[in-house]
Amino acid sequence: MANAPPLTTALTLCLSLLLLLLFSTTTVSAHNITRILAKHPQFSTFNHYLTVTHLAAEINRRETITVLALDNAAMASLLSKQLSVYTLRNVLSLHVLVDYFGAKKLHQITDGSELTATMFQATGAAPGTSGYVNITDLKGGKVAFGAEDGNGGKLDALYVKSLEEVPYNISVLQISQPLNSVEAEAPTAAPTLNVTAILAKQGCKAFSDLLTASGASTTYEQSVDGGLTVFCPTDPVLNTFMPKYKNLTAAHKVSLLLYHGVPVYQSLQTLKSSNGVMNTLATDGAEKYDFTVQNDGEVVTLETKVVTAKITGTVKDEEPLVVYKIDKVLQPTELFKAAAPVKAPAPKGSKADDSSEADGPAADAPADDSADSTADDDANGVSRMAGGRLVLGLFSFCVGFFFL
Ligand SMILES: *[C@@H]1O[C@H](CO)[C@@H](O)[C@H](O)[C@H]1NC(C)=O
Ligand SMILES: *[C@@H]1O[C@H](CO)[C@@H](O)[C@H](O)[C@H]1NC(C)=O
Ligand SMILES: *[C@@H]1O[C@H](CO)[C@@H](O)[C@H](O)[C@H]1NC(C)=O
Ligand SMILES: *[C@@H]1O[C@H](CO)[C@@H](O)[C@H](O)[C@H]1NC(C)=O
Ligand SMILES: *[C@@H]1O[C@H](CO)[C@@H](O)[C@H](O)[C@H]1NC(C)=O
Repeated sequence: MANAPPLTTALTLCLSLLLLLLFSTTTVSAHNITRILAKHPQFSTFNHYLTVTHLAAEINRRETITVLALDNAAMASLLSKQLSVYTLRNVLSLHVLVDYFGAKKLHQITDGSELTATMFQATGAAPGTSGYVNITDLKGGKVAFGAEDGNGGKLDALYVKSLEEVPYNISVLQISQPLNSVEAEAPTAAPTLNVTAILAKQGCKAFSDLLTASGASTTYEQSVDGGLTVFCPTDPVLNTFMPKYKNLTAAHKVSLLLYHGVPVYQSLQTLKSSNGVMNTLATDGAEKYDFTVQNDGEVVTLETKVVTAKITGTVKDEEPLVVYKIDKVLQPTELFKAAAPVKAPAPKGSKADDSSEADGPAADAPADDSADSTADDDANGVSRMAGGRLVLGLFSFCVGFFFL
């Protein structure tokens, strides 16, 4: 009985450690502006346009940031200007300060006034000092905001209240009115996205060269405006595939290349949360040229019945264009022999075993495919599995303790 209290203490410690570990492996530390604003229905329009303009993703990526939020009435006055979505993006990005201002810091501004850079300034689209916001501590505890450009130093908006503050990470403050800025409101053309040039600069030079040489690039260029997702086999992957590629007829080369494009913008988030068949730029009536998206947690794979490729990274994400790196060349059944359907349900029983990946297409057994899957071990997957093992280990340890 004498040793019961220490044992209980140890057991308690053990279990709390286990709980802590379980908890820490499932929570995400990064902020999510969409979720923050969703708690405040009177900011739904502002929230909606942060998503539409893709600023939300950029806000989430950054640390040390302040969002000057506009309620639905203030947004209505901004929207009445009928700006294009690209221009609206500039205006809203002027409302995102790339520094942290909590309500307290706001009232402690040195010398009562300060110029601070915004996301509009950070894009490089803002000429001169436009893109900076003047924050001025007025008499009587009021704080005013104004865009620093052709506005004659007019401070348009007043601080209303703080909606959310995560010290030194993100602060969301309501201001009374939109910040006016001639520069931000200047008509902005849709960004011209040159797919082949972008690919060439981002580790997909070989793929880009093939697009140009085959003429498939025309279809890619024409598809961008309506939304385009490109799955790019990286240079080493494509190089090992070249003997097979050279063996194809000119028309089939084009088909293979078009097979790596999907005429819709698909964010990684969407790919991770939806499994299913996907049409490609090569899909044309009778010729299906489709593949299946299959995801397991953080890992997204593309299955063609001939080969299973894995997304290993995002090269470019600028709606309407998104480009992902993949670790194998996608081979459609229209051009290559499908692997024999040997799909024995993985005997090891684990759902995330990387080993099954290597022995996929047995019948066709293209030597190059196994060579392809070299680099990019999925860091997330690995750490997830390691975390799981640790929890399991600690759990057995605790159970052992219990039966002592
Ligand atoms: C942020 O939250 C929204 C709404 O809860 C969700 O739809 C979105 O996927 C989240 N974004 C990220 C990057 O987690
Ligand atoms: C901010 O604007 C006010 C009013 O126009 C001006 O007096 C002040 O000098 C400006 N502050 C800075 C740092 O430029
Ligand atoms: C602030 O951001 C850092 C880096 O992303 C993160 O580690 C930390 O947990 C965040 N702090 C809070 C309170 O969310
Ligand atoms: C894209 O860029 C490449 C090389 O940088 C150039 O040759 C080609 O003409 C450009 N295409 C378009 C549509 O601008
Ligand atoms: C090229 O095609 C021929 C005839 O279809 C085939 O026998 C050969 O194995 C192919 N070579 C490669 C590298 O795929």
